[in-house]
Amino acid sequence: MLDITWLGHGTFLLKLDSGAHVLIDPWLTGNPASPKDFRLPKIDLMLITHGHFDHIGDAIALAKLNSCKIVSNFEICTWLASKGLENTSGMNKGGMQDTGVLRVTMTQALHTSSIQDGDHVIYGGEPCGYILHLDDGRNAYFAGDTAVFSDMALYADLYRPLLAFLPIGDFYTMGPEQATLAARLLQVKTVVPMHFGTFPILTGTVAKLSELLEDTGVEVKALEPGQSLQW
Ligand code: NI
Ligand code: MN
Repeated sequence: MLDITWLGHGTFLLKLDSGAHVLIDPWLTGNPASPKDFRLPKIDLMLITHGHFDHIGDAIALAKLNSCKIVSNFEICTWLASKGLENTSGMNKGGMQDTGVLRVTMTQALHTSSIQDGDHVIYGGEPCGYILHLDDGRNAYFAGDTAVFSDMALYADLYRPLLAFLPIGDFYTMGPEQATLAARLLQVKTVVPMHFGTFPILTGTVAKLSELLEDTGVEVKALEPGQSLQW
């Protein structure tokens, strides 16, 4: 059983069968969609998809607080190490890593990945997503910020993910139409929508996604910020 809690925007907290907690793309401070009065548990592993502020905003503070391992691309991990974080494990696309908490495979994402560091914009490597390999044998796909791309079909062939976390907000990522095609390419049974509603510019809605996926057999599991789903 995977316990999935949406912390608004692209931020998720996962609780694994082992009891370990995984935090993905930590952005709580300044996140308008962040649930009020939410107390984070001890974090064992942090996964980061790219360098934009709305995905790494709280990474340094929370990694220091929890002394947890951080997985991201090589460039972001190098930057985090330069900020004093010692437990980083930078990888790259196509690779699988057994973090000791969760096995993850780094996937493609069609997006950008700069890091805003004070007055400077730093090269943040390439954006990515992750296949999450659960101990019960099931796989889930965390897309990160991305447009749809046809190679998502390769992830269906390779990993047979049953669930996909997909952005639907449009403008900076795919919207509901592309997410519908993504669900088809991935052959998933369940979609957890993310990266919508945070700002007025993110106009993609769950209602639109549900309408487009009606009669396809794909279930949309939309969460409210702070709400959990057992999967
Ligand atoms: Ni982004
Ligand atoms: Mn984003």
